[in-house]
Amino acid sequence: MRIFSGNANRPLAEKIATYINQPLGDVTIGRFPDGEVFVKYIENLRGKDVYIIQPTCKPPNENLMELLIMMDAARRASAARITAVMPFFGYARQDRKDQPRVPITAKLVANLLVAAGANRLLTMDLHSQQIQGFFDIPVDHLFASPVIVKYLREKKNFSKLVIVAPDTGGLKMAHGYSTMMNAGLAIVAKQRKTATEIDVLNMVGDVEGCEAVLVDDLTSTAGTLCAAAQMCKDHGAKSVMAAVTHAMVTDEGLERLKNSPIDELVTTDSVPRNAWKGMNVTVLSVADLLGEAILRIHNDQSVTSLFKV
Ligand code: R5P
Repeated sequence: MRIFSGNANRPLAEKIATYINQPLGDVTIGRFPDGEVFVKYIENLRGKDVYIIQPTCKPPNENLMELLIMMDAARRASAARITAVMPFFGYARQDRKDQPRVPITAKLVANLLVAAGANRLLTMDLHSQQIQGFFDIPVDHLFASPVIVKYLREKKNFSKLVIVAPDTGGLKMAHGYSTMMNAGLAIVAKQRKTATEIDVLNMVGDVEGCEAVLVDDLTSTAGTLCAAAQMCKDHGAKSVMAAVTHAMVTDEGLERLKNSPIDELVTTDSVPRNAWKGMNVTVLSVADLLGEAILRIHNDQSVTSLFKV
């Protein structure tokens, strides 16, 4: 087995390598003067089980192209199997044709990955689980919830906890957390006005006097989280915190979060760390989870059993 990292999140890849007890593989990833990507593996890959770690977070196009070119080079170097390890799968929100004349970019990305040589995909908290069906290769889909739930259980002393989905699409995820935490469940019905503006419509469920924990797969402008947090407060929640797997918060989003009722954001290192100045943020590592999944895939062992909390 050999594991390699692109440039998207090298600190995470190094932690995964430490867990696996194997150094990251030797590869040169450069740029030609015009910005084109150049990749060269320095070691022999013939017959190897190759894992390429590259979340397609910001800048998504650069990171995706780097991953595609790394896979192409590995395939042409006769690797036996190539697994794209994408702790964050970018473009996942474009997963359906919800307006006339728009693309399904998540499907395009799936096609590109396979065309470039991916034999399997290892990813985490996809925006929607149906994206697995865009692939005709095996997809191992991990959840960050075991890591986040462990933190919530060990570090927080909730008296009346309610898990809140900040939109209807997040219901399945929120239901999973509420089951694991033995907590109540509520949903905020959201409507997006523009890419950066949210209209909150209503709340289903009771949060009065509760410690509300909003859970979501990702946050970017933080519009969804902050609107839902305000809704929780307006409905009498005692406190509000948020647990989000992939936090790629814009500057505008950070300002929003700071001015919101959210008193703590818990997230993971699936994507590089934001500059969280002025915000109470806890970053948990998913490196061991990903490392364990890689070991199990390599050894043909069950990956599902990792999700038992
Ligand atoms: C949407 O359905 C996702 O699960 C997130 O809630 C959303 O994409 C977050 O985006 P933003 O932080 O920009 O509101």
